Amino acid sequence: MCGIIGYIGEKQAAPILLQGLRKLEYRGYDSAGIVVCNPANPETQVTRFRSVGKIDTLENKVRGQEIVGTMGIAHTRWATHGGVTEENAHPHHDQSGKIFIVHNGIIENYREIKEVLGNGHTYVSQTDSEILAHLIGVHYEQMKKEGSCSDLRRAVEHALHHVRGTYGLVVMHTDYPDCLVAARMGSPLVIGVADGEQYIASDPTPMLAHTKKMVFLDDGEIAEVTRDSVQTFTLLDDRVVKCVEEVEWDEAAAQKQGFPHFMIKEIFDQPVVFEDAIRGRYDLKEGTAFLGGLNMTNDEMRRVKRVILIACGTASYAALVGKYAFERLAGIPTEVDVASEFRYRDPIVDDTTLVFGISQSGETADTIAALREAKRKGAFVRGIVNVVGSTIARETDGGTYIHAGPELAVASTKAYSNMIAILLLYALQFGRLKRVSIATGQRLLAALREIPAKMRLTLERAEEIQAVAEKYAAYKHFFFLGRGINYPVALEGSLKLKEISYIHSEAYPGGEMKHGPIALLSPDFPVFAIMTKNQLYDKMRNNIEETKARGAQVILLATDGDDHARELSDDVLYVPETMELLQPLLNTIPLQLFAYYIAAALGRDVDRPRNLAKSVTVE
Ligand code: AGP
Repeated sequence: MCGIIGYIGEKQAAPILLQGLRKLEYRGYDSAGIVVCNPANPETQVTRFRSVGKIDTLENKVRGQEIVGTMGIAHTRWATHGGVTEENAHPHHDQSGKIFIVHNGIIENYREIKEVLGNGHTYVSQTDSEILAHLIGVHYEQMKKEGSCSDLRRAVEHALHHVRGTYGLVVMHTDYPDCLVAARMGSPLVIGVADGEQYIASDPTPMLAHTKKMVFLDDGEIAEVTRDSVQTFTLLDDRVVKCVEEVEWDEAAAQKQGFPHFMIKEIFDQPVVFEDAIRGRYDLKEGTAFLGGLNMTNDEMRRVKRVILIACGTASYAALVGKYAFERLAGIPTEVDVASEFRYRDPIVDDTTLVFGISQSGETADTIAALREAKRKGAFVRGIVNVVGSTIARETDGGTYIHAGPELAVASTKAYSNMIAILLLYALQFGRLKRVSIATGQRLLAALREIPAKMRLTLERAEEIQAVAEKYAAYKHFFFLGRGINYPVALEGSLKLKEISYIHSEAYPGGEMKHGPIALLSPDFPVFAIMTKNQLYDKMRNNIEETKARGAQVILLATDGDDHARELSDDVLYVPETMELLQPLLNTIPLQLFAYYIAAALGRDVDRPRNLAKSVTVE
């Protein structure tokens, strides 16, 4: 998720763009750049500055420079393709050096496009976005007729016909200092309308200080924006009439896209970012996955005798789901190790062991130290991280970015789901080398592709979940129970509740209750039990009946259509059914929402809970 802002009007563009980037820093902050068009001076028609690091670094670079011009575009980056370097920072330009773009999204087929563009193109970055700029430039050369903004807009349209992926895109051409072109597919883009000036941004945040009148582009729409007009078209060149909306948000609300907290926004982000995690990383025809960053030959993969998943906190619970997937699909013994324990237990690893370090931040000190220990002992060491260019990404010999976008709430939600997505794809990639048939692989991938829609169905039940959460908000203790692949879900639900509501909560495998914890049961100690359809469903039912018999109140999570669940519980929440290995991706959402709504009802600082940090960079 990156931040984009464009301006065209009568004022000097640079200060407006830099100020706008500051408001967008929450969307991505590993590098930034700005380009301004100054038609008055052909020699310095464009002035571009880019820098690694936060907006302050870019501002320091720009300070004292002469940046004249009333049209420009700017970008703050959350790297997905290519490391965190100045060359990879936006804006990027085409071969002519006259067309500049800023892009938010992922071009899935950038390799194929680069191949088709062939020689004669010099790329200075490792990004998919720069290739898109060159593609637009080629189409512009083919299409330019009238020498007007429409030529540029049509060139962008035709280029985008060849693109698979997502984009929020703003394009400028130094020959046309009177127009910007904006296009949207899968990444938000909004036009701020004012008198004699227009703004374009990833969301209303950076424009609210200038105007509250917004035109929200929809997927598949493209706009020609001049100082006095906004014309919108489909990618097939048909005019689209858009209404100008008056937004009531203040800047804080706009950063959260109208949600009261980042955590709830990020819970609702999950369907979209899940699609980003799997996009372009599987082959439905072959029923397999392809995670290029693994950097292992098929022979090396076949030699792997053991997998160790190392992580902390929520990431370790995602790893536990991954354990089931690796053992069920790949048939490789897989263990999950809490990073802070792994490094001190003199782990037995060798060159047939594959160790994954799983981490949203990529900076968790315990996980970094554990991976160094594994590397020292000769294991294959790979990363599954969210932050591009983070320490774990740099120190491992390969791995995969989870593409969850910046996760700003301390409590991890969308990163957890995307970690599971990547672990499932890895398990399939290894499994298809050994024991998984093409039909099984295709079945799994078909179910995986349905997950975003089933996540949306689950999220549509948020109000029911909120009602149940508020009913139990006053309790001081909770149990979370699950069996099999639902035990990691119980652990994650319990952690979410305790870390943002400060309520005491414990998670147990359902079968463990009779070995001691059941002594705690009472009407004051509610039990949240996960009883979705799986091979341990009947066993879980028995555990719940034992629990009910001791007078505890039971909240059940059950599969759509399971009417038995109502007889067994005081409250029941339902989720759609999917394959057992994928069910945690849906089951966790009601638990995230349950914790969120209780914490909100208690007035907690949901995004910044006491005592916690987003990234624990100390041991
Ligand atoms: C998750 O809600 C917690 N904030 C915490 O457990 C977190 O998952 C853990 O610190 C690991 O962080 P990482 O994924 O950045 O390594």
